[in-house]
Amino acid sequence: VKHMAATQDVKGKGEGGDQNFDYMFKLLIIGNSSVGKTSFLFRYADDAFTSAFVSTVGIDFKVKTVYKNDKRIKLQIWDTAGQERYRTITTAYYRGAMGFILMYDITNEESFGAVQDWSTQIKTYSWDNAQVVLAGNKCDMEEERVVSVDSGRLLAEQLGFEFFETSAKDNINVKQTFERLVDLICEKMSESLDTDPAVTTGAPTAKLTDSAPPLQQPGCNC
Ligand code: GTP
Ligand code: MG
Repeated sequence: VKHMAATQDVKGKGEGGDQNFDYMFKLLIIGNSSVGKTSFLFRYADDAFTSAFVSTVGIDFKVKTVYKNDKRIKLQIWDTAGQERYRTITTAYYRGAMGFILMYDITNEESFGAVQDWSTQIKTYSWDNAQVVLAGNKCDMEEERVVSVDSGRLLAEQLGFEFFETSAKDNINVKQTFERLVDLICEKMSESLDTDPAVTTGAPTAKLTDSAPPLQQPGCNC
């Protein structure tokens, strides 16, 4: 099973063992099929783009390390399949995620209409503290646009999410989206450090890296 093998890889090898960072943030990219989730991650992690569409099967991930205030933050970025038939597998990964990029396609009304449902999925399956950025992708396709910038911004406001219009193709706001999400998670972390005295007595990395609840297996009710 592909997603299980991937999980073991992260724990085992890569980047000189798993100790080569101060924090690890698990991020998830979600949204309807073909909105550009895989392309977005491909642009961010490998600075590349392809116009071929290979729909994601199940779930996949890439790792990228970023630096913030002299801390190394390892991002484990999970790219989920938008197709409905993989929903049971993908929602099983929501629980350990600290941040979400919820994506729609500005040339596809249906993908925008589905944002509310995706947001409900986040509320149902993830931590209460998970941070969300709404991304209206394919903003390079101005001529085919059917969702205005204002509708995107308004919906984001209503849902309490940050908002960017992005293009994986032309590399617009890709890095910014990830950086903003990382900032939001860091802000949330320092808030809980301020309010939860138990945290300050423990290891500084303990709060959000090690206390992640174990992944719930699909079909398990425990
Ligand atoms: P699933 O894996 O099925 O959930 O789809 P996905 O959201 O991962 O979509 P994917 O990244 O595979 O992209 C779908 C198609 O849109 C591909 O043909 C991409 O080349 C194209 N695409 C992705 N991002 C952009 C973008 O920013 N601009 C343009 N013009 N095309 C894009
Ligand atoms: Mg994909």
